[in-house]
Amino acid sequence: MSSATTSRIALVTGANQGLGLALVRGLCRELGTGGTVYLTARNAERGQEACTRLKGEGLSPQFLPLDVTDDTSVQAAAEAVRSRHAGIDIVIQNAAARITKDVPQSEQVAEFIDTNNHGTLRLLEAFTPLLRDNARLVVVASSFGSLRNLDPRLHARFEGDGLTLQGVERALDDYVAAVRAGTAQSAGWPDWINVPSKVGQVASVRVLARDRAAEFRRRGILVNAACPGLIDTEASRPWFDDMSSAATPDEAAKDVIWLATLPAGTTEPYGELVRHRKPRAWK
Ligand SMILES: NC(=O)c1ccc[n+]([C@@H]2O[C@H](COP(=O)([O-])OP(=O)(O)OC[C@H]3O[C@@H](n4cnc5c(N)ncnc54)[C@H](OP(=O)(O)O)[C@@H]3O)[C@@H](O)[C@H]2O)c1
Repeated sequence: MSSATTSRIALVTGANQGLGLALVRGLCRELGTGGTVYLTARNAERGQEACTRLKGEGLSPQFLPLDVTDDTSVQAAAEAVRSRHAGIDIVIQNAAARITKDVPQSEQVAEFIDTNNHGTLRLLEAFTPLLRDNARLVVVASSFGSLRNLDPRLHARFEGDGLTLQGVERALDDYVAAVRAGTAQSAGWPDWINVPSKVGQVASVRVLARDRAAEFRRRGILVNAACPGLIDTEASRPWFDDMSSAATPDEAAKDVIWLATLPAGTTEPYGELVRHRKPRAWK
């Protein structure tokens, strides 16, 4: 077998800053010279700058443009990986829009869902076909992603035998429409837009894991969502007066990298939301 097919290939979205940058740094160290780690970003200049920064630390990430809101961009990144390596071992969907203080959430919800949820679906659709045997696919969510955070009236939108990946996205589109129509609260949707969004991300991981269980189990592939805990990044800082309990991005990245690099032969966790190396209850 050539080294092109035996060396591990990894890709992280939204990796020019925050947790994503730390994930690339940690993966570069973990995979060493035998691995290729793609630092992807929606903005080429910011992505290249981040690569240069890591190269200054003696690491060798490679840059790929990838905007999760753009089908063409996501497909081009997947095609680049396919043509260079024929497959991928580690995919971390980390990219996320921020919530801006002082702007009504009703004005942010559509872009937020398009990035964090439809973006996750775009990633899953483009990269799942490339997963090699024993691959690890991780969606960075949060502890908000447990179904118990939602009003029971909404649970059927995010679980059930008949639920599909597209069904999860429809639930989130309905949520966006309800926020815009001013009916979200009466329908039971919470005020904080990150809750339905993170529940949707975890629901998508669960649906993918369920639908592909026979094949993924046979091929040793693990798909999971991760909660990294509170991290001191530009995204979280505006919301907290005291960040002393927050992890640095490098600290928070450790447990996500553990999940993304579980050795071949590991069978659990599978289809779970994992925080600090332990599955969280869904309900
Ligand atoms: N921070 C926390 O305390 C915390 C807690 C729990 C979970 N999380 C989760 O951890 C992940 C990373 O959070 P973070 O705090 O590191 O956030 P962050 O600092 O805001 O970084 C988010 C990254 O996503 C990128 N991004 C935004 N829109 C994108 C798009 N359309 N396509 C590709 N990339 C895009 C951003 O790029 P630009 O630089 O171009 O904007 C940035 O690189 C998120 O999923 C978040 O929900 C964070």
